[in-house]
Amino acid sequence: MSEHWTLPSLKEAKKRNRTQVQFSREEYELDEKYQSLGQHKRYIIHTYGCQANERDSETIAGLLEAMGFELSTSDEEADIILLNTCTIRENAVNKVYGQIGNLKHLKQRNPELIIGICGCMTQEEVVVKTILETYHQVDLIFGTHNIHRLPELVHQTMFSKERTVEVFSKEGDIIENLPAHRFGNYKAWINIMYGCDKFCTYCIVPYTRGKERSRLTEDILKEIEEVKADGYQEITLLGQNVNAYGKDLGIDDGFGKLLEEVAKTGIPRIRFTTSHPWDFTEKMLEVIAQYDNIMPYIHLPLQSGNNDILKLMGRRYTVEEYTEIYLKLKELMPNCAFSTDIIVGFPNETDEQFEDTLRMVDYFQFDNVYTFIFSSREGTPAARMEDNVSMETKKERLRILNEHTILHAYQKNLAYKDKVVKVLVDGLSKKNKDVYSGYTDTQKLVNFTGHNIKEGQIIDVRITEPKSYFLLGEAV
Ligand code: 5AD
Ligand code: SF4
Repeated sequence: MSEHWTLPSLKEAKKRNRTQVQFSREEYELDEKYQSLGQHKRYIIHTYGCQANERDSETIAGLLEAMGFELSTSDEEADIILLNTCTIRENAVNKVYGQIGNLKHLKQRNPELIIGICGCMTQEEVVVKTILETYHQVDLIFGTHNIHRLPELVHQTMFSKERTVEVFSKEGDIIENLPAHRFGNYKAWINIMYGCDKFCTYCIVPYTRGKERSRLTEDILKEIEEVKADGYQEITLLGQNVNAYGKDLGIDDGFGKLLEEVAKTGIPRIRFTTSHPWDFTEKMLEVIAQYDNIMPYIHLPLQSGNNDILKLMGRRYTVEEYTEIYLKLKELMPNCAFSTDIIVGFPNETDEQFEDTLRMVDYFQFDNVYTFIFSSREGTPAARMEDNVSMETKKERLRILNEHTILHAYQKNLAYKDKVVKVLVDGLSKKNKDVYSGYTDTQKLVNFTGHNIKEGQIIDVRITEPKSYFLLGEAV
């Protein structure tokens, strides 16, 4: 191992300290020596995982463009290829290893090409070790806490003979005003906080993303005013657990207050993700129901419908408490759509416990359910639990669960037949060039026909034919 490398350490990542997070709020200025590094060169970023990664990739793109790089449409034409990775489940990781393998021939053809890996995977010791030992085509490895150092890291990679590895195990300061190239023209991601302190026993995120750190409300509002002035119609407030916003800043009911301020900016559509049932307060429920520009769609992960499993998962709420929040939201917003995440096959989950989950899923009739088989993540408490459930059983449970969830999704969509809904137009549909697509306020995908339709408009669409995963319609 090189003495210049900064490698990740799980032990360090597990430590949480009380030191106050520092905010760096000056205008961003790129050091002169990096300003033309990317001249006549192209970059491409492949992003895996959640919206936090999508937003990070926008910052990475912004930094590379500040250095003079231009966006490439293919790997073949790129001078730097970055994979912004996810490690939430084993299959996410395998996908990235496959992709690194696929890039080998490009590196052989062009030794000047820089292949870089960043994101949650690189925060793991075992991953960095594997890449260093096995994937020699990778030149640059950095993590989730040092994206702002990208210009220096690229410079080092270009001019040093050895590979560049810099992964901080502990989260750093909050750096405002980094440049960003937003990939959406009408929908913007807005980080409101970083990290996670919940430590659900199955989850790797608290180790890869560090402790909870909230951005200052005024900085969030400033960013929202900027995107609004640029014509953005929709924002999604991002955090691993948005309901905990402001706790670390000592603000009571921080998310409810923030949401109210955000609603008052008048931006047409506001979404947020992800909510944790544990931190939901009355104030939040009221604000969500009160403002028309907060969309009636809530993603609220349930994970399991059995209290013993929830306890083993470290979720800190019961099925009854979850139900209470759900019912209150339903009462305040009868048209609200709900989606959730469910994990099947948690270590030692019994048939009866799985059936409890099925029963609750049938009770809630979610509009959409993201279903997963438990994946053991090294370093998490659940990975140390002995597990007597076979993979065959887990797969069968997933299959049964999916049968239920698709039926509910279809039934929910059927209620839209002949209704006129507001749709934010994304553009022409990917599959059919005579058809437009967009989303309702309840986050339903609509494919529709019409004339003189412009991207970024919010228009009325009559639903003609509901399907399981989308709605067909015509503009009115
Ligand atoms: N195995 C399976 N699913 C997981 N998730 C998080 N960690 C794991 C894991 N180890 C799921 C949870 C979470 C979603 C983003 O991914 O359901 O809400
Ligand atoms: Fe994947 Fe979680 Fe990292 Fe998002 S925060 S990229 S879901 S591991």
